[in-house]
Amino acid sequence: MRVIGIETSCDETGIAIYDGQRGLLAHVLYSQVALHAEYGGVVPELASRDHVRKVLPLLRQVMVQADTRAVDIQGIAYTAGPGLAGALLVGAAIGRSLAWAWGVSAVAVHHMEGHLLAPLLEDNPPDFPFVALLVSGGHTQLVRVDGVGRYRILGESLDDAAGEAFDKTAKLLGLGYPGGPALARLAAKGHPQRFHFSRPMINRPGLDFSFSGLKTQAVNSVKQHLGEHVPSSASTSDDDQVRADIAHAFQDAVVDTLTIKCQRALSETGLQRLVVSGGVSANTVLRQRLRDMVDTVGAQVYYPRLEFCTDNGAMIAYAGYQRLRAGQAEPLAFSAMPRWSMHDLTPP
Ligand code: KG4
Ligand code: ZN
Repeated sequence: MRVIGIETSCDETGIAIYDGQRGLLAHVLYSQVALHAEYGGVVPELASRDHVRKVLPLLRQVMVQADTRAVDIQGIAYTAGPGLAGALLVGAAIGRSLAWAWGVSAVAVHHMEGHLLAPLLEDNPPDFPFVALLVSGGHTQLVRVDGVGRYRILGESLDDAAGEAFDKTAKLLGLGYPGGPALARLAAKGHPQRFHFSRPMINRPGLDFSFSGLKTQAVNSVKQHLGEHVPSSASTSDDDQVRADIAHAFQDAVVDTLTIKCQRALSETGLQRLVVSGGVSANTVLRQRLRDMVDTVGAQVYYPRLEFCTDNGAMIAYAGYQRLRAGQAEPLAFSAMPRWSMHDLTPP
């Protein structure tokens, strides 16, 4: 079975083709970063309009790359939620229209299920069951995964997601959008001992997270050391060093907290495989610290390749393939779920 995946939930247009026998045949990604940069964040209406412009040209491109014609396709998978309503509707409308025109099945994919299954696209994928840490801009979750669609959420963020906390702290430090990678670059220049931020909720039992307090600690450190004003281009090199030191302390606290909770999740479930996915899983300090942790507890950690940590079409094509293979498909009327809990997912 050959499946097209369409991802349009936020600011990335991703299209891919996955083949049950030959694996991932091709994938293309168009990022809207430049479009939203001048506004300091994603503007939903601009995102929707840009997806409308990009989906079909990218689809043609990926079909040429994969040497695939319409008659070779058996299914269309598209991200149905969670995400921005207008952006989701673009993928849903085009996905279902194509499925109708080509007489094939369509399947609505949960964006976080896409992230969760992304490491299975790599060589030596993990066997089920495993613990998954999903760390994106909208979600931070620890999930016990017993198979496709067999998910139990062990813990999640009670306020900001890890990526959201990265983005907000980056903004505070005068970094542009998207903030996560920029903050990580700045943190690399920071002194480790200058500031120490707390590790939220590690002394309480359970696997939930809270990251909004770290943002407040960053705000207080900025006020105390740099005054009321967000650092500007007029800032001195001393100020630049303070910003780097704050970025370092912030990243260290997030990474440590995630690592402690992953270790706890492995210990509480008795599982020895950890899968880490979503935009923040591209963070090299997090990747290294989790590697060190699993080495000490005798477990293994699995990541998607860097380009599949953040949003992409390949993970949607793969998740859709798994569900279509299990016989799941929907009528061609469609809906999009801007809010959609993984609690509601059932096995295909
Ligand atoms: O999974 P994703 O592409 O989109 C969502 O589903 O939200 O994740 C985007 C998030 C953003 O918050 C971004 O700042 C963060 O992932 N991110 C990073 C890094 N790369 C992306 N955060 C920390 N370090 C990075 N290297
Ligand atoms: Zn995502």
